[in-house]
Amino acid sequence: AIDIRKLYGQTGKFTYDPGFMSTAACNSAITYIDGEKGELLHRGYPIEQLAVHGDFLDVCHLLLKGDLPNLEQKREFSELVTKHTMVHEQMQFFFRGFRRDSHPMAVLTGCVGALSAFYHDSLNINDARHREVSAIRLIAKLPTLVAMAYKYNTGMPFVYPLNELSYSANFMRMMFANPCEEYKINDVLVRALDRILILHADHEQNASTSTVRLAGSSGANPFACVAAGIACLWGPAHGGANEAALNMLEEIGSPERIPEFIRQVKDKQSSVKLMGFGHRVYKNYDPRAKLMRETCHDVLEELGLHDEPLFKLAMELEKIALEDEYFVSRKLYPNVDFYSGIVQRALGIPTSMFTCIFAMARTIGWIAQWNEMISEPDQKIGRPRQLFVGQTPREAKPIEQR
Ligand code: ACO
Repeated sequence: AIDIRKLYGQTGKFTYDPGFMSTAACNSAITYIDGEKGELLHRGYPIEQLAVHGDFLDVCHLLLKGDLPNLEQKREFSELVTKHTMVHEQMQFFFRGFRRDSHPMAVLTGCVGALSAFYHDSLNINDARHREVSAIRLIAKLPTLVAMAYKYNTGMPFVYPLNELSYSANFMRMMFANPCEEYKINDVLVRALDRILILHADHEQNASTSTVRLAGSSGANPFACVAAGIACLWGPAHGGANEAALNMLEEIGSPERIPEFIRQVKDKQSSVKLMGFGHRVYKNYDPRAKLMRETCHDVLEELGLHDEPLFKLAMELEKIALEDEYFVSRKLYPNVDFYSGIVQRALGIPTSMFTCIFAMARTIGWIAQWNEMISEPDQKIGRPRQLFVGQTPREAKPIEQR
């Protein structure tokens, strides 16, 4: 046998860790997760307290700048974000280049990547002020772009931001207002959306955040890096899980069919998974899932949908799974996505937009992590190694001799 690593000059030691199950790729002071205990803290604050005592812009300030804002800092920060909610008028032509029936995540990936073509006055990544302007632009413009993607999809006119509204109320209005009738803000629903944003804001080195860091490590601009993060988030094992969880609940249809579904999940030949369950890091109840279940309850109460069959089905499915040896022995618990699809549907958000909402929330996590990385003095380009398992050297012959 030939030692292929020597053959190609691959000497020295490196770890082989597919899926990065046990490799830390960076230092970070932003988010701490204790997967065994089911704890999530941002800059030292437990997510349960942030969800109750803060709003999404508080969390944005916290992640980006290191602490919760006081009243004066909050006013300044909100004003700054508000100032940047408009997108360049040319952006609408970018949207109009897409087919109307394009998946909104495809549109969002393209449009966020295109921001670097419109806002190239702040792309010096070595200048902290430029980095901050890009971060603010991204946080401010994402709701506008997500709402535009929805309006374009449904053939409705774009709605411009109304900056006297809060971040989440502004987004709800851009999504759901139309020129034919007055749009009334419902505080319970706005608060529910804000909580979805808080709960999805950051989650340390998940696949999309690692993608943003890797893209950023080459010196790529922040808009391009966040577009890469959005592309990664789209996958069903990551940001697409709430859509998949809702589809799964609909497929199960009624509580009597739960045992048969669980049987399929346990059958290793079937490849059926209980979507919205399990997590690479949490081996306990995801703390965000508890908060999301509460929000789900509040929203359904507000809308007079207390008997919503999907919510009842989800709670029954959770109860059965948590008592089942298969899930108990593998430490599989509901994750944040188990209930977030039901909440979003109740808010009137169509399934195809769920991952865009996730992207809107996670943008602050991506940009805060990117900024943290770029600020480090000895930052290196990310360059994983491989274990080569291919051909040994052989001769390439001219085509007539092959
Ligand atoms: N349903 C059924 N079985 C599962 C599930 C599930 N949802 N998740 C894991 N398992 C099983 C695996 O089949 C495996 O069983 P085995 O030991 O008999 O082979 C065992 O539990 C360990 O699972 P892994 O796949 O090794 O766990 P991993 O950390 O790689 O995967 C993941 C985590 C991708 C989240 C997985 O649990 C999953 O696919 N869940 C469903 C999708 C989902 O909800 N994703 C959202 C994640 S949270 C987020 O992105 C916000």
